[in-house]
Amino acid sequence: MTTTLITGANKGLGFETARRLIEAGHTVYVGSRNAGRGRLAAERLGARHVLLDVTDDDSVTRAARTVEADGGLDVLVNNAGIEERTPDGGVIGPADVSTGIMRTTFETNVLGVVRVTRAFLPLLRRSAAPVIVNVSSGLASLTRVTTPGTPTYAYPGVAYPASKAAVNMITVQYAKAFPGMRINAVEPGYTATDLNLHAGTQTVEEGAEIIVRMAQAGPDDPTGGYFDVSGMIPW
Ligand SMILES: NC(=O)c1ccc[n+]([C@@H]2O[C@H](COP(=O)([O-])OP(=O)(O)OC[C@H]3O[C@@H](n4cnc5c(N)ncnc54)[C@H](OP(=O)(O)O)[C@@H]3O)[C@@H](O)[C@H]2O)c1
Repeated sequence: MTTTLITGANKGLGFETARRLIEAGHTVYVGSRNAGRGRLAAERLGARHVLLDVTDDDSVTRAARTVEADGGLDVLVNNAGIEERTPDGGVIGPADVSTGIMRTTFETNVLGVVRVTRAFLPLLRRSAAPVIVNVSSGLASLTRVTTPGTPTYAYPGVAYPASKAAVNMITVQYAKAFPGMRINAVEPGYTATDLNLHAGTQTVEEGAEIIVRMAQAGPDDPTGGYFDVSGMIPW
């Protein structure tokens, strides 16, 4: 029996990933920072719910204790993420980005990953087949962001892609440190969710595909990589 925790699983890609992994036989914890939204999502999915705000040390510690007391963890999907927008929904570019926006974004997208991973690492180390999936973004690819003529090049944001580039680096360093675990970063693709005010061109079913696949990585599968649904992508 594989037990999986997905942060920010009350909606969007996390919710769809939970649905698919339950279908595949996993026992899934829906991590949610809001008790009501989390419980509702867990009920709809037939999942367990754990209150978990990735920006809050106490919340993350309590969640790890709960999951440990229930029997431990095999798969951690660091999915919770934010992208700050202008009041009219625009991307915040270099002229307008502030240290405050950088800090808020990194608190959730980067420190959140480290905080949650650190808390659940002792549980994962006791698993026979531990897996971590860090939900990154194609916008983190320095290669793509510097290749003129691509949608990634045209994207003007600063805080969000910088945070996901940090997630990629964290992924690589953890993967090297824990070779017995499968630890990968994934790019779901541009998916219609609340994050982008549903401007994304893919469905959540399409976007969750690579997250679901990497959550089921076995000992012979790659670690320390950066993947979308078609395979490895350039850093
Ligand atoms: N959609 C895309 O095109 C796309 C592309 C590439 C990568 N991604 C990544 O995919 C992941 C999921 O995003 P999504 O598109 O599914 O967006 P979404 O629908 O907005 O879902 C984001 C989830 O993260 C949760 N969250 C935010 N801050 C949190 C915190 N402090 N603690 C716990 N949970 C928190 C949200 O909870 P609340 O409901 O409480 O706000 C929500 O459940 C993110 O890491 C995002 O960067 C998305």
